[in-house]
Amino acid sequence: MKALVLSGGSGTRLRPITHTSAKQLVPVANKPVLFYGLEAIADAGIKDVGIIVGDTAEEIREAVGDGSTLGINVTYIPQDKPLGLAHAVLIAQEFLGDDDFVMYLGDNFIVGGINGLVDEFRTERPDAQILLTRVPNPTSFGVAELDESGRVAGLEEKPAQPKSDLALVGVYLFTPAIHEAVRSIEPSWRGELEITHAIQWLIDQHKDVRSTTISGYWKDTGNVADMLEVNRSVLETLTPSVEGTVDASSEIIGRVRIDAGAEVRGSRIVGPAIIGPGSVISDSYIGPFTSISEDCRIDDSEVEYSIVLRESSITGVRRVETSLIGRNVQVTPAPRNPAAHRLVLGDHSKVQISS
Ligand code: TTP
Repeated sequence: MKALVLSGGSGTRLRPITHTSAKQLVPVANKPVLFYGLEAIADAGIKDVGIIVGDTAEEIREAVGDGSTLGINVTYIPQDKPLGLAHAVLIAQEFLGDDDFVMYLGDNFIVGGINGLVDEFRTERPDAQILLTRVPNPTSFGVAELDESGRVAGLEEKPAQPKSDLALVGVYLFTPAIHEAVRSIEPSWRGELEITHAIQWLIDQHKDVRSTTISGYWKDTGNVADMLEVNRSVLETLTPSVEGTVDASSEIIGRVRIDAGAEVRGSRIVGPAIIGPGSVISDSYIGPFTSISEDCRIDDSEVEYSIVLRESSITGVRRVETSLIGRNVQVTPAPRNPAAHRLVLGDHSKVQISS
C-alpha cells in the first residue's frame, strides 16, 4: 500500500497568518500540520509516499526532505496548477501503479491517526473508503448520503440543500479502481477534476464505496480561533520533558516541554505549553495552551493561550492572550502618554483606578 499526500495548491498570502505560503506547513504545537499526516501514514506501516507539490514545492521539499527522518520514502510529484484532487490522482498514476493507496490532504489534521481506518480497509477491501465527520454547516463541504446499510449512496460538492450533515474529511482509501474514474470525469464548473465526482462515478458503476465517521478533525482554513483550538488539543497530549536549561528561580508546572537549547530564567511556565529550541524566556509567565517556536525571546511578559512563531520577541508586555504571532515579530509596550488623575477625594473615600 502507498500514500499520496496532497501538498500542492497555490501559495495563499491572503491568509491572516503569512509566515509561510504553504498552508500545509502551519505549525501545530511547533510541528507543521503536514508532519502529523506523514507520521500517521508511517505509523500505519506505509513507507512509499508520493507528495504532490505546486507553487510552494521548495518550502515543502526543504521541510520534508527525502522523508527518512519520518521513516518514509518520499517521491515528489509536481503539479503545474491546482487542477483538483482527482487531477492529483491522475498525475500520480505512474507512482501509484497497481497498488492500493491512502490519499491524504496535507492541510488536514485527523486526531488519533489512521491506523484503524487502514486496517479496516485492508481487511474488507471495498473499492473505496471515505472518511466523514458531522459538521454544523454542510453547505461548505463535500457531503455524503448513506443508504440504510451505511454504504455511500451519493456525494455532492457544497450542496445548497444538503442531504446529510456528513462532510468529507481529507483522507480517502482507494483501490486502483479510482484510476479509471479520474480518467472518466470532466472538470467541474470551477475547472477542477473533483474527487467527489470520481467517487460518484464509482458509485454509479455499482462499486462498493464505504465510509467511516470520525469526530476529531481539523482543516487549516487560516482561522486563528481554530488554530489555537487545535494547538490546545495537541498540547494536552504532550509528553513533558526538559531538555533545555531552567534556572533555580523558575517554576515549571504541569505538561511542559522545553526543547534542547531553550533557556528559562526567573519565569513561571504553566502547561500544557511548549518552548522551542533556542528560545529564551526570562522574567515572564507562560500560561496554558501556549506554543513558543524556536529562537524566540519572551522577556518581562505574560503570554497565555497563544502561538508564537519563530524568531519573534515579546518584551515588557502583559498580557498577551488568545493571539497568533507570526515569524520575526517584535511586540513591545506602547510608549505611555503622561497620564494623570486629578482627584479631590473626600475623607474615607475608596477609589479604584486602572493604571
Ligand atoms: P483545497 O484547496 O483545500 O481543496 P478542497 O477542494 O478541499 O478545497 P475547497 O475548500 O476549496 O473545496 O486543498 C486541499 C489540499 O490538497 C491542500 O493541501 C492543497 C492540496 N491540493 C493539491 O495538492 N492539488 C490540487 O489540485 C488541489 C485542489 C489541492
